[in-house]
Amino acid sequence: MQSMLRGKDWIETVDWSTEELETVLQTSWDLKSRFALGEPHRLLQDKTLFMMFFEQSTRTRNSTEAGMTQLGGHAHDLTPDKMQISHGETPKDTGKVLSRYGHGIAIRNCFYGVGNKYIREVAEHASIPVINLQCDVDHPCQSIADLMTIREKFGHDLKGMKFVISWTYAPAYARPLSVPQGLITLMPRFGIDVTLAYPKEFNLIPRTVEAAKKYAKESGSKFAITHNMDEAFKGAHVLYPKSWGCHQYLEDQGVPEADRKKVGMDIINKYKSWVCTEKRMKLGKKNAIYMHPLPADRGAEVEDAVIDGPQSVVFDQAENRLHTVKAIQALTMGGRP
Ligand code: CP
Repeated sequence: MQSMLRGKDWIETVDWSTEELETVLQTSWDLKSRFALGEPHRLLQDKTLFMMFFEQSTRTRNSTEAGMTQLGGHAHDLTPDKMQISHGETPKDTGKVLSRYGHGIAIRNCFYGVGNKYIREVAEHASIPVINLQCDVDHPCQSIADLMTIREKFGHDLKGMKFVISWTYAPAYARPLSVPQGLITLMPRFGIDVTLAYPKEFNLIPRTVEAAKKYAKESGSKFAITHNMDEAFKGAHVLYPKSWGCHQYLEDQGVPEADRKKVGMDIINKYKSWVCTEKRMKLGKKNAIYMHPLPADRGAEVEDAVIDGPQSVVFDQAENRLHTVKAIQALTMGGRP
């Protein structure tokens, strides 16, 4: 068990060894038990976390802030318009200044081609740990909570389990790539066979696909890509259908920035049949679970009967966001000197 994690940034799970990730999971279960017992666990007493949200959030914002309160500290809920970021203050200066005031910086910045770079620039200049609350590359707080949930449902040994992350139709807006990328780079490390399904325009950033292949090879698990949703669902233990945008495709095709929103939405509208239905769920194993990070586009991405049905674990996933982020906070902002 790797226990010396104080000061370590939590930006992508690929930056953490499998042993370190096991420490996060073990700590999450410990904190979940203490929360269930009503036992105080003020491991970050009087410590401050600065949360900077460049986008909206329900789960991440509230789990991260509640987590700090429960650990005995405090979180500042910040947006660029509340800070001098809106007047052009640099990530370097922001990181240096906040380091003088508190004990951790947490950032959500999902802008494609921008978010990960921004977070890494703050981290380079901050002297306190930086936590990624979702960027354009990874959503590590989500994927680790999902792994915790899968272990709760299926046990510790996940070798041979089929996990499917599939694109779905969602007309409201083009979502970031970070959830599917976070899942394909994490699950194969724990022996899980991963199938990634999407219409051909919805490819992910190549380096995350390469990492998934590498981890699958190292752990002896399988990683497959298909462009057929039904084919992907067959025999699966975990069905994780959720939407994302075709950012990488638009960039590859050289679509000008100004046209990307319209072109991207036109492409999304070509694939209205990519919905998680009750009928499709039957293609999976009898004991298969339905997962979604939320918010879900009900009626477009998924039928109510599925997300509200007996196979759905979406609220367990959402709950585990609290316990896992508390583990990350406690280990990186507190922990061993
Ligand atoms: N899953 C997730 O990150 O939800 P929020 O966007 O509400 O934080």
